[in-house]
Amino acid sequence: MRLISFKQSFHPQGIALCAFRSRWASTSASVKDPRVGDRSIYTLDPIDYNEPKFNKILIANRGEIACRVMKTARAMGIKTVAVHSDVDSNALHVKMADEAVCVGPAPTSESYLRADRILDAVKQTGAQAVHPGYGFLSENTDFAAKLTAAGATFIGPNSKAILDMGDKIHSKRIAGEARVNMIPGYDGEIADEDQCVKVANDIGYPVMIKASAGGGGKGMRIAWNDKEARDGFRLSKQEAASSFGDDRMLVEKFIDNPRHIEMQVLCDKHGNALWLNERECSIQRRNQKVIEEAPSSFVDPDMRRRMGEQAVQLAKAVGYDSAGTVEFLVDSKKNFYFLEMNTRLQVEHPITEEITNIDIVQQMIRVAYGHQLNIKQSDIGINGWSFESRVYAEDPYKGFGLPSVGRLTKYEEPVDRVEGIRCDSGIREGSEISIYYDPLICKLVSHGPNRQVALDRMRDALDNYVIRGVTNNIPLLRDIVEEERFRSGNITTKYLPETYPQGFEGASLNGNEERTLVALTAALQALKIARAQMFTNQRKAACIDPLLKDYSFVVGSPKNGSDSRKTANVNVKFIDGNTDNVEVFVDGTEVKLCGDICLAKSVLHLDIDSEASKKATVQVVSKRPGELVVIYKGSQFKMRVMPKAVSELLQHMKEKPKVDLSSVVLSPMPGAIKTVSAQVGQMVTEGQELCVIEAMKMQNSLHASKTGKVKAVNVKEGQTVDEGEVLVELE
Ligand SMILES: *[C@@H]1O[C@H](CO)[C@@H](O)[C@H](O)[C@H]1NC(C)=O
Repeated sequence: MRLISFKQSFHPQGIALCAFRSRWASTSASVKDPRVGDRSIYTLDPIDYNEPKFNKILIANRGEIACRVMKTARAMGIKTVAVHSDVDSNALHVKMADEAVCVGPAPTSESYLRADRILDAVKQTGAQAVHPGYGFLSENTDFAAKLTAAGATFIGPNSKAILDMGDKIHSKRIAGEARVNMIPGYDGEIADEDQCVKVANDIGYPVMIKASAGGGGKGMRIAWNDKEARDGFRLSKQEAASSFGDDRMLVEKFIDNPRHIEMQVLCDKHGNALWLNERECSIQRRNQKVIEEAPSSFVDPDMRRRMGEQAVQLAKAVGYDSAGTVEFLVDSKKNFYFLEMNTRLQVEHPITEEITNIDIVQQMIRVAYGHQLNIKQSDIGINGWSFESRVYAEDPYKGFGLPSVGRLTKYEEPVDRVEGIRCDSGIREGSEISIYYDPLICKLVSHGPNRQVALDRMRDALDNYVIRGVTNNIPLLRDIVEEERFRSGNITTKYLPETYPQGFEGASLNGNEERTLVALTAALQALKIARAQMFTNQRKAACIDPLLKDYSFVVGSPKNGSDSRKTANVNVKFIDGNTDNVEVFVDGTEVKLCGDICLAKSVLHLDIDSEASKKATVQVVSKRPGELVVIYKGSQFKMRVMPKAVSELLQHMKEKPKVDLSSVVLSPMPGAIKTVSAQVGQMVTEGQELCVIEAMKMQNSLHASKTGKVKAVNVKEGQTVDEGEVLVELE
């Protein structure tokens, strides 16, 4: 894997690049956009090699963010120190660093979170500063204080700002005083209908009228006008009295069609504060972001300026002096309200770098050293559009993503195959995704002159991204980037459950696509047979024609590989015995296959229906005899090839009986058992928690799916389990 291509822009003699020149003048006309066909897409932010700087910094993190920080540090000519756990000793971030120190065993509480050991590593290596990345110690003010006491610099905001913004109530008070829009509400009980209408008008419609004791949607009404407020109050109050025996009522602002939009800020220790435009992060599941974009298609210039100015007001109010993010909740009328401020480098910072040409990590390192920001607000514009897909080791068919583990048996990033793509990853072929850490494989970032092009590039990048050995969420990401509502930009934080009410089920194929896939699979299968015959019999290819005659195909569904029982009749011929010249007939009609028909490549590019504009990218995952697994539109399809006689028999086979899963609790993912509350012989009711499994920092409570007696408990606390293991059995 090629990692860095900074060398061309590195000037050890210290040729000062003019750091104050307008970024817009420099990128629009004279300077070639280095993103094209080049991995180094951080370097549009010029580096002044004459400026004093840290000689060596330690990165107190792992994975992609450790690698990403090191890329900029190296480009600046700063030496880097990695810290790692014992299982990470061969990790990419360790290989990239100039020095590395092992700080403990695999669990994060014994390694990456051990401030004392990381301080020892700082002293041992003489690092002058520590970049904490995100997560781990990035918002730990004790660590920052100890670092300062040891004479090293924390590359992040001052501790007072972290503490001020870390407390939910305190941060809201400060934000309110800094004239940041707050979600309006009324503290206290609402006495009657008249008061309800008055308060609703003060807050502004729509409002949510809800029972103080409420829950599960009971005693709750949304009102858009005075009449609805009156009726809603009366009905909800009655409902609350009968449901909860408590009819105290509250009124708060209702955020309809909420979007999550955040503003990146950048500040220095000299009182300068800038806003670097917004990122929209509405595509979420369980409050975790899935796809982000910058800018937001919903934000107009005036709204952007107001959001930016409020974010800077807040940053100044807390004396902020690094990179930070102010998160807002936005309603359908473009009202925006403060949620919280994140006092660290954010996971999704690359899309802001893409559209502003500012290297946020470089600026963090500079301001931590004490330099002033070398950018003015008027220098900051928006260059094109950028998307980030978080590629996770997760099964997207389970609740939009449950963690998965494994070793990357094959791994090819799409950077060299698609224009305008940046991959922030911390892994390579052979790396293991383990239960100990975040299951992030890569932050796949696309950039283009507009939203459409950036989205098309993301689609192509996902199609050309080869990941084998680890279940991943590319099927879901790939589906979203072509989904109509997403493409139109009409998104909210409820997008996933609204778009996939039954859960995600994989891509679906239209007739043409299915015929092309069948034809491709048949051609590949025939090619394989031809190869095998040539090899074993040393015969001429001419003798093996025809190869597949009257064969049938069964296409399996992407979700679970079960047969969808779609069959087609297929005949394959090699013209004149030439394996490069293949003719495929599906149900009697020839399907023209133009493009790569080849067994060696992991990604094949085809033209569908001979239309040059209809390109298809197909990945071949496995080639077992009589079966091919291909990836098309991100989803895996199991294609079975069999003689027609066999497939006819198959039609009469019974469906495999379903195992009764109601009396067992299976581990939904690999992980460690955190607690076990079920005991043998105990009576449990449906929905009762039986045990809690922890995987990749997530706690998942497993419940009884029916009422019954516990027959067996097969696990203990602390035990690690595999996916599908039977944890608890009921009678
Ligand atoms: C946005 O999508 C939702 C859900 O599909 C739909 O109800 C609504 O009408 C759409 N709004 C616009 C402006 O297209």
